[in-house]
Amino acid sequence: MHSFSYKDGSLHCENVNLADIAREVGTPAFVYSKRDIAGSLAAFRQALSPLDAHVAYAVKACSSKAVLQLLARQGAGFDIVSGGELWRVINAGGDPALCTYAGVGKTEPEIRYALEQGIYCFNCESEEELRAIDRVAGKMGKVAPVAVRVNPHVDAHTHKYITTGTNENKFGVDIDRIEKLYAAIHATMPNLQPRGIQMHIGSQLTEVQPYLMAIEKVAPIAMSLKERYGIEFWSIGGGVGIVYDGCLESASANWWRQHPEQMTIEGFAAAVIPLLQPLGLRIIVEPGRRLVGNAAVMLTTCLYEKQGEAKLFKIVDAGMNDIIRPALYEGFHEIWPVKEHHGDTVTADVVGPVCESADFQAQDRQIPDVKPGEILAEMSAGAYGFSMASTYNSRPLAAEVMVDGDRWQIIRRRQSLQEMVQGECGLEER
Ligand code: LLP
Repeated sequence: MHSFSYKDGSLHCENVNLADIAREVGTPAFVYSKRDIAGSLAAFRQALSPLDAHVAYAVKACSSKAVLQLLARQGAGFDIVSGGELWRVINAGGDPALCTYAGVGKTEPEIRYALEQGIYCFNCESEEELRAIDRVAGKMGKVAPVAVRVNPHVDAHTHKYITTGTNENKFGVDIDRIEKLYAAIHATMPNLQPRGIQMHIGSQLTEVQPYLMAIEKVAPIAMSLKERYGIEFWSIGGGVGIVYDGCLESASANWWRQHPEQMTIEGFAAAVIPLLQPLGLRIIVEPGRRLVGNAAVMLTTCLYEKQGEAKLFKIVDAGMNDIIRPALYEGFHEIWPVKEHHGDTVTADVVGPVCESADFQAQDRQIPDVKPGEILAEMSAGAYGFSMASTYNSRPLAAEVMVDGDRWQIIRRRQSLQEMVQGECGLEER
């Protein structure tokens, strides 16, 4: 469920008319629902409450300050993948002691920074990385808490670019080598303390089966590590999928009743709890997309209509620099006019102004026959939307807005041209 629906012929976020936001802030603009983000966090906590469970929000999904603040104020932990993300969490009032640090390429300054800040655990992806952390911790006179990310060789049945748990991916350590690696940590890396084990098999999982297979494979190893080295947690990663196709209708509880095959937070929890509870470990989940994905739309204005030889194009003012998911992962986002249409639909490509053929938001899509000047909402844009935006084609970053009931506030001003070039130094005179 989410809080975007038509009321009195206009698309609203909670009780705010998106047309009002577009008029005042302009487009492109990302609009988040505070209720939806906080609600999803609460739903994870509630559903996993039979376990000693902690939610570590995967910051990469949306790292905007207000979103991190909102989650930090609810006491969430954070799963980070860079020193920059750790800095953002701290800057937003998050607690480093609730941070897990993932990623295959941690640099020495990043490791030092994370140790200084006292993060909960480094989730490590190779022996070389463990040795680097051991070295840095030794120099600092600290003991670094570590977990190894296990690659369980389970296919998550998701897009190939967001599958992470098979033997062709760069992530994690092969499941067969895990116990040896912990033995090596114990025997040869005195500045490391094994605190847990981690896995993450992929993103946008729409079925729970791959999780269960991975959990069943890794559980005996987790138990053995608990006995041998006293590890206290198992992070089972993120990946719980959201609704992209059917998004607007999924604002109603009825839709969910009619789609029992759809993975819900409650369904996910009910399936994994029986496997995890007997282990007696703290369970960390790292949802990114499921906390923020359906909780935002991106507003864009239709600029032109162009009838090509073979296709009808609706040209909008948001490009692949604003939201890259369609170009990069063939990502599907529903597109709805803010002012409700009851009339004709057409088959069209919705394309942006960026000079790339991959700059499309939708291809050969049956959409309401929107006209230039109309505002459109690209749905389910909260995760990997703004956080993956760039200024390609020298297009300043979009604005962001947070809605709370019938109020809203700008949480990021639209970037100015001057801000866009900040840091550029120019060529010396000669
Ligand atoms: N934990 C780890 C270690 C991860 O690598 C990821 C995502 C997550 C948690 C969060 O996964 P989520 O719950 O959001 O599925 N940009 C792509 C998704 C990349 C996901 C990368 N890792 C997209 O737009 O689909």
